[in-house]
Amino acid sequence: MPRWFRYNLGYLGQPPWDTGISPPELKAFLETSPAGRALDVGCGTGTNLVTIAAYGWQVVGLDIAWLSVIKARRKLRQSGFGGQVWCKNVGSRLRLKDEFDLVLDIGCYHNLSALEREAYRHNLARWLNPGGVYLLYAHQQTSPTSPHGVVEADFSHFSRFLSLQWREDSDERRPDGGGGRAATWVRFVREL
Ligand SMILES: C[S@@+](CC[C@H](N)C(=O)[O-])C[C@H]1O[C@@H](n2cnc3c(N)ncnc32)[C@H](O)[C@@H]1O
Repeated sequence: MPRWFRYNLGYLGQPPWDTGISPPELKAFLETSPAGRALDVGCGTGTNLVTIAAYGWQVVGLDIAWLSVIKARRKLRQSGFGGQVWCKNVGSRLRLKDEFDLVLDIGCYHNLSALEREAYRHNLARWLNPGGVYLLYAHQQTSPTSPHGVVEADFSHFSRFLSLQWREDSDERRPDGGGGRAATWVRFVREL
């Protein structure tokens, strides 16, 4: 089943990640950074777009699922903030006319194939302003045969054009081993 179709099916209801709450790691960044232009890649229904806009940022969202794009546009409109949300596949080479001071990805990159990740990094390198920050939350790969999740090589690829500022590995799993997955937050900066 194509990914865009699978995600649209999910957005017919409320998928498990769509909690309506922005993570503290994003808020910590916003509280200590001057406002600028932000891009949320795989923005889902736009919760984080609204949070970022509330800190005075101009926001743009991208998502492959048109149903989430519709929901994100509505959420932004209802919140009273401006912003744009586009239905696009970030795993293909994209032309956006803007550059950004923050690119956020919560849960999108870790789903992409190797070829899509390459196109994504190509996009990212063009989208980030000097001094701009890339904030990524991704599941770690649990088995070498699984296409899902990130591995150290992903971070090495980012390090070719970005500098690592901060990293936190965590475990979404419950103490009994059930539940979610091991995951990583990373914050890279594009040097001036
Ligand atoms: C786990 S969800 C997270 C959504 C949102 N970031 C959040 O935190 O609620 C991953 C999102 O990435 C989107 N996505 C997956 N592959 C994509 C692609 N190739 N291009 C753009 N968006 C994609 C999905 O439609 C979905 O909305």
